[in-house]
Amino acid sequence: MNDKKVIFSGVKPSGDLTLGNYLGAIKNWAELQDEYECYYCIVDLHAVTVHQDPKELRKRSLEILAQYIAAGINPDDNTMFMQSHVSAHAELAWVLNCISYMGQLKRMTQFKDKARNNEENLSAGFFTYPALMAADILLYQTDLVPVGDDQKQHLELARDLAERFNSKYSDTFVVPDVYTSKIGSRIMGLQNPNSKMSKSDDNKNDYVLIIESDNETEKKIKKSITDSLNQVKFSDEQPGIKNLITILSKVTGDSTQDIENKYENAGYGKFKSDVAEAVNEELKPIRQRFEELMKNKDYLEQVYLEGAERAETVARKTLRKVYKKVGFIPRKF
Ligand code: TYM
Repeated sequence: MNDKKVIFSGVKPSGDLTLGNYLGAIKNWAELQDEYECYYCIVDLHAVTVHQDPKELRKRSLEILAQYIAAGINPDDNTMFMQSHVSAHAELAWVLNCISYMGQLKRMTQFKDKARNNEENLSAGFFTYPALMAADILLYQTDLVPVGDDQKQHLELARDLAERFNSKYSDTFVVPDVYTSKIGSRIMGLQNPNSKMSKSDDNKNDYVLIIESDNETEKKIKKSITDSLNQVKFSDEQPGIKNLITILSKVTGDSTQDIENKYENAGYGKFKSDVAEAVNEELKPIRQRFEELMKNKDYLEQVYLEGAERAETVARKTLRKVYKKVGFIPRKF
């Protein structure tokens, strides 16, 4: 046992990973890995809250694992696994569902956004999904959850459920803190800089994927929607330019102020082409490593199987405690 604090985070394999997923989450995970004991999961149970093509889901889940590793997360020191391989996630989710209030779940922005048009046809799983997310986190007695801005509300719910369970029964769960980075926790769409970059967007020009060609990335960034002010300013009045400055800052480590200064007299053409180059430079080694990893499926299998085994041990321990506290008769596991 070590005394490192625990991190848990995950990505839903419902689409290919975008630059938003990378800058808002995975890049931070890689940076935090030495300081924490980390569980980085591919949350496939979450993906099926909306229909997924089974073949695609299997393929994408493996590709996402390869992208975690390609992005620099070391499989020897971190636990990476498929959520569906550790059944304690679904089991704890049930118990947490039973202490979640409908009212609170109805207030989740992600649910409200989807429910606006077709609540009748949304799956019950989509509605209760924040309780499953809380289970993911609480099973590992997680201290810190590095996510993008859009997951903050779900994190609040996870904290609430942990506190509620602890006070209803007795101290059981660590109440987790959220971690979002100062810059890059909300990357916006390239075609619509007023809404977040999302892998489920219909317009492929709205997002950059971790695994696409340099050429595609360059074209998309050059085509991104900006404005006619022709000044590189980090301002809410210029959401497109503000987003590109954010991306450049997160990728290079330069401050937004430095970037403003550097491009004071430059046109948008030069600025966009530099952003595209910097993004490609960041993603190039990841793309190369990804290609190599996908040729070695046995290795990837070994990583997720060993990951599940390690995760299972920790998760079962928490679940056993929970079952005992709620009054289920213990059995020998
Ligand atoms: P998901 O799969 O939508 O996104 C994965 C991670 O990427 C971040 N992210 C972004 N960050 C910045 N800008 C963007 N445009 C952007 N788009 C996505 C998300 O905030 C997230 O951190 N419910 C979660 C998955 C999940 C999870 C968990 C996360 C399930 N269980 C437990 C943490 C802990 C989700 O749908 O993320």
